[in-house]
Amino acid sequence: MPKDAWNRIDEHELKPLTSLFAEEPDRLGQLSKTIAGIHFDWSKTHLDGELLEAFVTLADEKNFAAAREALFAGEVVNQTEDRSADHPAERGSGSPDAVELAGSRRIRMRALIDAIEAGAFGDVTGVLHIGIGGSALGPHLLVDALADDRLRLDVSFLSNIDPHAFDDAVSVLDPATTLVVAVSKTFTTTETIANLDAAIAWLREAGVADPYGRVIAVTASQEAALEAGIDDSRILQFSEGVGGRYSLWSAVSVTAALALGWDAFEELLEGAAEMDRHFRFTESGQNIPLIAAFADLTATQKLEAQSRGVFPYDERLRLLVPYLQQLEMESNGKSVTAAGKPVDRPTAPVTWGGVGTDVQHAVFQLLHQGTVAVQVEFLAVVETDSNLPAHHRQLLLNAFAQGAALMRGCKGGDPYRSEEGNRPSSTILLDRLDARTLGALVAFYEHRTFAKAVLLGINPFDQFGVELGKEIARQLAEGEGGDDLDPSTRDLMERAKL
Ligand code: F6P
Repeated sequence: MPKDAWNRIDEHELKPLTSLFAEEPDRLGQLSKTIAGIHFDWSKTHLDGELLEAFVTLADEKNFAAAREALFAGEVVNQTEDRSADHPAERGSGSPDAVELAGSRRIRMRALIDAIEAGAFGDVTGVLHIGIGGSALGPHLLVDALADDRLRLDVSFLSNIDPHAFDDAVSVLDPATTLVVAVSKTFTTTETIANLDAAIAWLREAGVADPYGRVIAVTASQEAALEAGIDDSRILQFSEGVGGRYSLWSAVSVTAALALGWDAFEELLEGAAEMDRHFRFTESGQNIPLIAAFADLTATQKLEAQSRGVFPYDERLRLLVPYLQQLEMESNGKSVTAAGKPVDRPTAPVTWGGVGTDVQHAVFQLLHQGTVAVQVEFLAVVETDSNLPAHHRQLLLNAFAQGAALMRGCKGGDPYRSEEGNRPSSTILLDRLDARTLGALVAFYEHRTFAKAVLLGINPFDQFGVELGKEIARQLAEGEGGDDLDPSTRDLMERAKL
């Protein structure tokens, strides 16, 4: 009986990275690809020609093409919640109804922005964006990455229920001229509702006559926003099928569109649509998000790398790390298959990271000489608009040198100074950082996450694991559940006088 693809993958013997370059003359050509102004290089990973072929077969065995088409056609791909995943519809690919609905909601979002800019809310100099998880990480990444000198407003993001976070967020805003944008898919999230209440009180105390009139709500649950006292005319909706961590393409990014301008928001969607077209129509062996998924699985399944370090060598991409933490860990941090059976192999590794070159002087020791296998990803941007081009040159040289060093190692007589090398890394090189490229990059990460989920047989679109902790906190807040508490937690409660 012929072996199935997972068997072939499991039994395949990995070769040292440096010998792969010698043995596969076209390695760089096969394992590096460019699209939408972004170059991807997996040649310094252990993915080799034979493995690539086995993964392509695995994709066939897992009916990957059909799963991908179901995603883009707006069919049910989130089986546990019986839903489609409608984020591609926000950029034009999905069921005709979903695409039309997303389009009409975008027109409404644009109209509200035009009204704000035309003075319908009086003088507006700042936005307090309240939301958590997917209701903040995406727009925050956009504003932080694309701000440059073009921010049209003061923008503050408020997520945490920690009162210090509230104080920090409002400290840079003038309540008299601030709009509050409250984003929550469910409009029931404890942190967001508490912070919205505090923001209303902050406006009221500052003498704003109609604080609710300064609030824009973005949600998939219109009813809950209405119940919270927000007028329908200031509610922007998005679909239930758009998951929180996939929602930055919708009105969830109204703050970013206000701060960066509408053109930037449209360019973001166009960049994502370009990546969608590539992912949807390109054969497996040439498909960028899919090859990235193959390289990821090579690391997690064969190198036992349960840690994935993401290192942007560009300050503007610093918030990519928390963004990807939610995207990758909330999507694929699962231990049952979509069919409800225990998974028999590792799913998502821990995603972490930081900005180069800072990380080199803090955590890279472990990457070079530690005992933990880490799948490393570098990002860098070729073009700079900085007036310090020599700095930028150093930044890029450092990024590339780190990848070379991890692979090459150095074997001297001295055990303290030797590095074994053969440590894999991938590199993503952007021509420039603008809204279009960022849209394509984020869509690439979404599709790579989806591809891994299909190959592992898990559902990337639910997140039931977050519920239990929330439920216990809710019970405790309401004075319930005390009897079920373990001695340690009860003791902590007593010590904190709760
Ligand atoms: O608790 C996890 C989560 O549900 C995320 O999936 C989501 O992005 C976040 O909380 C915020 O949820 P909401 O947008 O409903 O406030």
